[in-house]
Amino acid sequence: MLIDQIDIERIPDHIAIIMDGNGRWAKRQGKPRVFGHKSGVKSVREVTEGCAELGIKYLTLYAFSTENWNRPKLEVTALMALLVETIKTEVSVLNKNNIRLETIGNSDALPAKSRRALAKAIEDTQDNDGLCLILALNYSAKWDIMQAVKTIADKVERKELTAKKLTESDFESALSTKNIPDPELLIRTSGESRISNFLLWEIAYSELFFTPVLWPDFRKENLFEAILDFQSRERRFGKTSEQI
Ligand code: IPE
Ligand code: IPE
Ligand code: MG
Repeated sequence: MLIDQIDIERIPDHIAIIMDGNGRWAKRQGKPRVFGHKSGVKSVREVTEGCAELGIKYLTLYAFSTENWNRPKLEVTALMALLVETIKTEVSVLNKNNIRLETIGNSDALPAKSRRALAKAIEDTQDNDGLCLILALNYSAKWDIMQAVKTIADKVERKELTAKKLTESDFESALSTKNIPDPELLIRTSGESRISNFLLWEIAYSELFFTPVLWPDFRKENLFEAILDFQSRERRFGKTSEQI
């Protein structure tokens, strides 16, 4: 079992995943794209459970990007409906496993039904202190950076802050990822080697793991494989190998 090879002392605190390949997975079976999205829910359950088992503190899943609004209307509607449905059915599982739900992204622009379901699930799980599951919804890293810049510019205008005194940590606390440590490991499925506007600031020093596995096929074993690969790397942060 791969899980037995994982060094529990060197588990990442935060794993972020770009869940990609649902459409291609469905197409390969002659099914509509939405069937791929529905099947991807099982993979979400698997990785969430895998992370909880390992004692990982944060798992961020890229579920819907700001750019995804440009998809056919029918697909967007189906994705939003799936989100509401999944959140409603999974809350009890989250509570049972002591998992807290959070979101990042511009949730104000989500349909009212999605906003309500999310707000309720966040409230219902807020006291759980195990894994924190963060859904990136209507998320775009450039949007997040811009809204942080605007918040800070406002503070400067109101003379609460000066440009000279502005620190990295002031900036970070204006991002929607405030209070969440940067991910040590970023996984992308489906064979694409790109970031697609995800966590640009936060992944400055993350280890990247790209796998050809399509998201609906992604299982715990694939997660454990990514963690093992992460543990085989030397994270130097600019230093030399000898200094580590
Ligand atoms: C990822 O799968 C899910 C979302 C982006 C919502 P895709 O729907 O992008 O699947 P492919 O990339 O078309 O195969
Ligand atoms: C990235 O996947 C967004 C999510 C996984 C939610 P996409 O399938 O939208 O990415 P691109 O457009 O192929 O880069
Ligand atoms: Mg895709």
